[in-house]
Amino acid sequence: MKISRIFLFLAIITGCLGCTQIPDSPSTQQIGFNFGAKTEKKYEDMIVGYAQLGAESEWRAANTISIKETADNLGVELRFLDAQQKQENQIEAVRKFIIQKVDIIGISPIVETGWEEVFQEAKDAGIPIILVDRRAAVPEDFYVSYLGSDFLEEGRKAARIMTELMDGKANIVELVGTIGSAPANDRYAGFREILETYPEMQIIDSQSGDFTRARGKEVMAAFLQKYGGTITAVYAHNDDMALGAIQAIEEYGLKPGKDIKIVSVDAARGAFEAMIDGKLNATVECNPLLGPQFFDLALKVVNEQPIPKWVPSIEDVFFPENASEILPTRKY
Ligand code: AHR
Repeated sequence: MKISRIFLFLAIITGCLGCTQIPDSPSTQQIGFNFGAKTEKKYEDMIVGYAQLGAESEWRAANTISIKETADNLGVELRFLDAQQKQENQIEAVRKFIIQKVDIIGISPIVETGWEEVFQEAKDAGIPIILVDRRAAVPEDFYVSYLGSDFLEEGRKAARIMTELMDGKANIVELVGTIGSAPANDRYAGFREILETYPEMQIIDSQSGDFTRARGKEVMAAFLQKYGGTITAVYAHNDDMALGAIQAIEEYGLKPGKDIKIVSVDAARGAFEAMIDGKLNATVECNPLLGPQFFDLALKVVNEQPIPKWVPSIEDVFFPENASEILPTRKY
């Protein structure tokens, strides 16, 4: 009782009632007890822990470079851990960062579920979390912001392009990303949302290729064994799987991009090269160059400035027609 009155008094004189934009961050907790002027933190004062999920694709390689290079350029002390596509390693990485008392944690959660316990631990330690690239299915107060794409919209864009390419009639096989990941879940759902109104656009099979080129090739080869030339289109949740599928189609003796139309997601350089060769019909952009926006958000968080709950990336779609003109401008 006495304590809460003292707190109320301190909160009133510091003008801080209701202004906790960043719940439970260490700096927010100090607000009521800090009577001196606060010195604003700079990039070089920050220690950032980053729990990357792995190195499964061209996209991910570009994303990692963007995080590391930006930290270097800004003088941020970055502790970077690669979980090698295993959720338990990513959880372990977050726990390490908590022990190390970093100022803030960035994480690209490999799958959507299973994060509550470790995020609660970070929250209890007063360390804010920014979700980068992939969302986690946790209550909103477990993270300060999500920086990344609208994966549902990417799925819708792919379906619109596919429908147009195929004149509303196709036998589609789908190469799904990592099972349970936000991009796989949403690209799957967004694609179906649009196809609902096109009864002759049939998804005849759908299997995970885990976002890798090798698995994409294997799964596509199995589809071809099963359905042969009845397949008229491939929807791949990322470029790497599409590139693997292209190899499988060629080895089967068909022409990718012609006998079988292919639409994928990411807009990585490999996809542009495949479009120039006439083997890929379109790619929907998903931007991995999130380093500058991530550290900008992180600095705002440690300085207790308000930030949006979702910072979406701005993304385009690309076709073979202008692929050679655009390729030299692509950074990943
Ligand atoms: O989360 C983004 C996805 O992850 C990219 O589309 C894919 O290439 C990557 O592995």
